[in-house]
Amino acid sequence: MIEKNSYAIQFQDVYLTIQQQQIIKGVSGKIPTGKITTLVGPSGAGKSTLLKMCNRLISQTSGSIYIDNETIEHYNPVQLRQNVGIALQDAPMIKGTVYDNLKLPKVLQKQFLTTADATSILQDVGLDKTFLQKDASNLSGGQKQRVSIARTLINKNKILLLDEITSALDYTSAHEIEQLILKLNQKYGVTIIWITHDLQQALKLSDYIWFLKDGHLIWEGDAEKMKTSNNTYVQNFFTEIIE
Ligand SMILES: Nc1ncnc2c1ncn2[C@@H]1O[C@H](COP(=O)(O)OP(=O)(O)OP(=O)(O)O)[C@@H](O)[C@H]1O
Ligand SMILES: [Mg+2]
Repeated sequence: MIEKNSYAIQFQDVYLTIQQQQIIKGVSGKIPTGKITTLVGPSGAGKSTLLKMCNRLISQTSGSIYIDNETIEHYNPVQLRQNVGIALQDAPMIKGTVYDNLKLPKVLQKQFLTTADATSILQDVGLDKTFLQKDASNLSGGQKQRVSIARTLINKNKILLLDEITSALDYTSAHEIEQLILKLNQKYGVTIIWITHDLQQALKLSDYIWFLKDGHLIWEGDAEKMKTSNNTYVQNFFTEIIE
């Protein structure tokens, strides 16, 4: 049985096998609605894979994933991408202007994005309207990341998946993107699930944490409880990073 209402996403005994290799091993866990959840854990733990399973870029081999209490298979691909947006570390842009990039989600749905709407979304991510006509390939890393987030916001996603979007940025740009994540969460109530290798950053921004190791979810809970967890893996990971 799944618990209703307070969870944006629930995993129930989820496995993923690729070419006879088990990558996700019986993950059951919850992502609270309207909160910021961070996936942490060593490299190769399965964080990116798990994130991509949340909008079906990768489908599970067995087990169930629920989005707003419905199985993920219940949604058609367009509905799912409207509900669940994703932004990745390299913020890939299509050739053309920032406006061309912003209207992409609408064009894919055979709809139109007015310049007024595009401007307002750009403002939300801290870029002024002169950016609309700029060539997307000339943007800085931080600007690209903003446009990438703005592009997902076009769909007014209820859930946003972010995979190490600050790891290639300098300290100042990373800090600005952190503030943007907080704003999206607080102003629009977007449920955020993100991955960072920076545990300090995770603890600072997150309400909830999933700790993954070798395809297992070995700890989940409120961020403030992680420091005092008596799980040995979590403790060791924590000490290594803090020291
Ligand atoms: N398409 C694939 N085919 C085979 N193995 C894969 C595939 N995708 C991921 N893996 C393997 O699954 C495991 C988890 O990968 P994943 O990228 O999810 O880890 P991660 O926790 O995001 O690591 P990192 O912190 O380095 O980004 C790794 O061992 C990886 O090699
Ligand atoms: Mg990864």
